[in-house]
Amino acid sequence: MANLLKCKPLDMLMQEASETGEHSLKRALGPINLITLGIGAIIGAGIFVLTGSAAAQYAGPAIVLSFILAGSGCVFAGLCYSEFASLIPIAGSAYTYGYATLGEIFAWIIGWDLILEYAFGAATVASGWSGYFVSFLQDFGISIPPQLTATPYTHVGHQWIPNILVQYQGRWELLTTMGPLLKQNGVDSSTLPQVTGVFNLIAFLVIGVITTILVIGIKESADFNSAIVMIKVTIVLIFIAIAGAFVLRHPTLAAANWHPFIPPNRGAFGEYGWSGIARAAGVIFFAYIGFDAVSTAAQEAKNPQKDMPIGILGSLVICTILYILVSGLLTGIVPYSALNVADPVAVGIDATGVRWGSILVKLGAIAGLGSVMLVMLLGQSRVFFSMSRDGLLPEWAGAVHPRFRTPWISSITVGLFVAIFASLVPIGILGELVSIGTLLAFVIVCAGVWILRVRRPELHRPFKTPLVPLVPILGIVISFALMASLPGDTWLRLIVWLAIGMLIYFGYGRHHSRVQRTVPDAVKSGGD
Ligand code: ALA
Repeated sequence: MANLLKCKPLDMLMQEASETGEHSLKRALGPINLITLGIGAIIGAGIFVLTGSAAAQYAGPAIVLSFILAGSGCVFAGLCYSEFASLIPIAGSAYTYGYATLGEIFAWIIGWDLILEYAFGAATVASGWSGYFVSFLQDFGISIPPQLTATPYTHVGHQWIPNILVQYQGRWELLTTMGPLLKQNGVDSSTLPQVTGVFNLIAFLVIGVITTILVIGIKESADFNSAIVMIKVTIVLIFIAIAGAFVLRHPTLAAANWHPFIPPNRGAFGEYGWSGIARAAGVIFFAYIGFDAVSTAAQEAKNPQKDMPIGILGSLVICTILYILVSGLLTGIVPYSALNVADPVAVGIDATGVRWGSILVKLGAIAGLGSVMLVMLLGQSRVFFSMSRDGLLPEWAGAVHPRFRTPWISSITVGLFVAIFASLVPIGILGELVSIGTLLAFVIVCAGVWILRVRRPELHRPFKTPLVPLVPILGIVISFALMASLPGDTWLRLIVWLAIGMLIYFGYGRHHSRVQRTVPDAVKSGGD
């Protein structure tokens, strides 16, 4: 049992962090690159898609408070990530922090869990991206065979049902999305042309393109990401400017839409009122996922000790402010009950009378979701890189391309796996797994900071989480509360996923672990 809790000594980690040469990753990223990497991963499907339904169904205008609640949980976790990322600037992120503090078995669990966040996160966003992209093409009269734009099955309630697309007013749309509108217009869906999804080729191809960019180089990937981030932040700012001006011109309308700010609870948990704010926070938590991905680029940062906290916290704070503004203005210009649509921000800008607005917002979403996938895939391959260097995964996963200096085999394997998942598994299942997996990683990182403070108080920490243990405890409590708001099925899938991970660890990792072979048994839990 003791061996399972063996820790990776900090000296060994520091030495790995300072490696150079053709088998190491290239240090090319400065503080601005790191902030844009964070924003690249954060702003995506959460704000462009989920905000509307969360406001309409759970929180009303108080969705702003949900954003503040979820954002503060993330800030606590972000402060803990920052301490670790500057102290142990290694590509493995939470996996490595777990290895240094809690021991190998916990490190493996976190590494395996991070697949849920990064790989499944990229797959979820690819699925959302294909929806926006197909809709954008249809705006210009371009159609793709609908069977190749959707997964074969979807998940409604507890049931798997064939994923049907219907043609209505010249556009192919998913029946699950169109159902309410058809009902409202008195249209019987069985009278419309129908097909069933076969394979989401669009999601498959977009992952292929992004994987190619990632293989070519970290600097190329960061530059591509920066260009996209510029576009999406500009579009979010344009929305804020147009919506802000509208609210100033129509203060009575906005005041009416914002009243009551917290719609009274309708009797059931989560249907408005304070419980609705909490449930909406659980849903829109997805919008914040990604700031921690900055920490996986630690071995590619020029000055990680100083710049990691800037990248993590800078991107988180910027996005929190943007989210509060967007959600506040959105519920001011459109009654919240009208926001239960797939493109709420586009609907919002339409309501201001700016006709070109919705095309612009769709462009923002297409660009925005692109960079989320890029950073998620980047994070996943870097975590595999670290796990392979430690012997817990086969050696090929850590191979660095001699010219591109990227973990190319790992990037391509991850890309293929993610592309297949994105094209076959329903987005709802993927999204909830991403949230629960990420929250579990947050809990472990927050606990790790506290444990290491107790065990190794003397270490020089370039960035110190303030108010330890209060901040880690708040991070743990809020993350647990958000996990508790997710359905029981998601918990079950998490447990099955972790059990599969255990089989792999005991079948392979444990016997090949470098730490098990090279570090004396005396080194346990945070020792050195
Ligand atoms: N935060 C990312 C998004 O909202 C995952 O798409």
